[in-house]
Amino acid sequence: MLLEARDLEVRYGSVRAVRGLSLQLAPGEIVAVLGANGAGKSSLLRALLGLTRAHAGKVAFDGNDVTRWSTSARVRAGLVLVPEGRRIVMGLTVQENLLMGAGQRRDSSAVQTEIEQVYQRFPNLAARRHASASVLSGGEQQMLAIGRALLAAPKLMMLDEPSLGLSPRLANEVLAHVRDLNRERGLTILLVEQNTQRALEIAHRAYLLELGQVLRQGPAAEFAADHSLLDAYLGRGQAAQRPTPAQLTT
Ligand SMILES: Nc1ncnc2c1ncn2[C@@H]1O[C@H](COP(=O)(O)OP(=O)(O)OP(=O)(O)O)[C@@H](O)[C@H]1O
Ligand SMILES: [Mg+2]
Repeated sequence: MLLEARDLEVRYGSVRAVRGLSLQLAPGEIVAVLGANGAGKSSLLRALLGLTRAHAGKVAFDGNDVTRWSTSARVRAGLVLVPEGRRIVMGLTVQENLLMGAGQRRDSSAVQTEIEQVYQRFPNLAARRHASASVLSGGEQQMLAIGRALLAAPKLMMLDEPSLGLSPRLANEVLAHVRDLNRERGLTILLVEQNTQRALEIAHRAYLLELGQVLRQGPAAEFAADHSLLDAYLGRGQAAQRPTPAQLTT
């Protein structure tokens, strides 16, 4: 296994966001994590990376027990997150944002070549490399966030809702890039995505979370075929109608 989380717990005060959750990813897999708003998807990804403290449980990555490792040590080991909301630095250029992704690397000689590879993959970014990131469209910003993650030399790329806020066409384009990264580079991917149908089309396996627990896991094709399950827990294809995080704040 490339990643193995066992019995993970994340609490915010009295809220148990992740409850004894276990998850595994083999090298080369795309695994989708599905679940309604508040199911604990982002908390899970953040805990895997050490951005949010796990109160209990273990995380093993690429042969090491990383449970007590800092976030930066996990990133250096190849565990990389494309966060919810993209977190592009608008005051920097496209190229400067890409370089930020390489900040933890020690093999800086390879970075220039890899920046050019990112530009080949995302021609819209190449055309704007010296422009402020603030001129990018939502879809381009998401590609920049993925490009920045690629510059960190990931072995496992975790993406938190990469298609959020994008038109269906751009959402498909972003998810097609995710699939291509997996196919072409064998990149292992953990994908949190509200665009359930499309996520299940590109994923090999899926986990369905409810209230911080795994309600079900299995091959993506089995989920895709189970319409009643998807309707009950996810409201298939309703990504555009979901409430914004601000509306959910209590
Ligand atoms: N920083 C925080 N402080 C307190 N509670 C939090 C915090 N972050 C998340 N929570 C709570 O933890 C639970 C899980 O939240 P999380 O953001 O992990 O869910 P999610 O599945 O990513 O939801 P969404 O689909 O809306 O992004 C929710 O009940 C949420 O309100
Ligand atoms: Mg979330």
